[in-house]
Amino acid sequence: MKTYRWLTLSAAIVITVLEAWLFTGASASQIDSAPSDDAVGRGQTLYSSYCGACHQPNGEGMAGVFPPLKGSAVVNRADATKHIDIVLGGLQGARVSGVSYTNPMPAFGATLSDADIAAIIDYERAAWGNHGSLVAPAQVASERARLK
Ligand code: HEC
Repeated sequence: MKTYRWLTLSAAIVITVLEAWLFTGASASQIDSAPSDDAVGRGQTLYSSYCGACHQPNGEGMAGVFPPLKGSAVVNRADATKHIDIVLGGLQGARVSGVSYTNPMPAFGATLSDADIAAIIDYERAAWGNHGSLVAPAQVASERARLK
């Protein structure tokens, strides 16, 4: 009986290690086809630091308080101009999918570089099943200049 339990346990460990190895291999090759490994990882890290507290790590926001970015029209629209403008300049008193949010969305134009904003936006546009087209730092730079 003891031997049997030990065997079950070791089998479980072997399977867990194999799964971890397979999973890491698969996700690494998936990320290879994205813009670049660094941009994706950096976008996610920056998102957790600057956006995740309100919009939540799963992109679902908080009902009635912070809008979801998962499935958001702004985030999934092919033209990323509005997405860029909101991050640069913030947003207040807008209605998002029929809901009015009392809290303002802070502006990040003074805090984050064009490259950081592009990395965050690209992360949001590819995460949680979103499928918005990606943006380059140059597009953020030209919006920054236009909004001045
Ligand atoms: C302090 C909380 C807070 C933080 C931090 C925050 N947001 Fe927001 N965000 C909001 C609120 C509130 C709104 C809705 C504002 C409104 O409708 O007036 C919003 C709206 C948005 C929208 C528009 C969503 C839509 O569907 O129209 C986008 C895009 C967005 N935020 C992206 C970001 C990004 C990117 C970051 C990080 C760089 C970020 N937010 C950080 C609170 C926040």
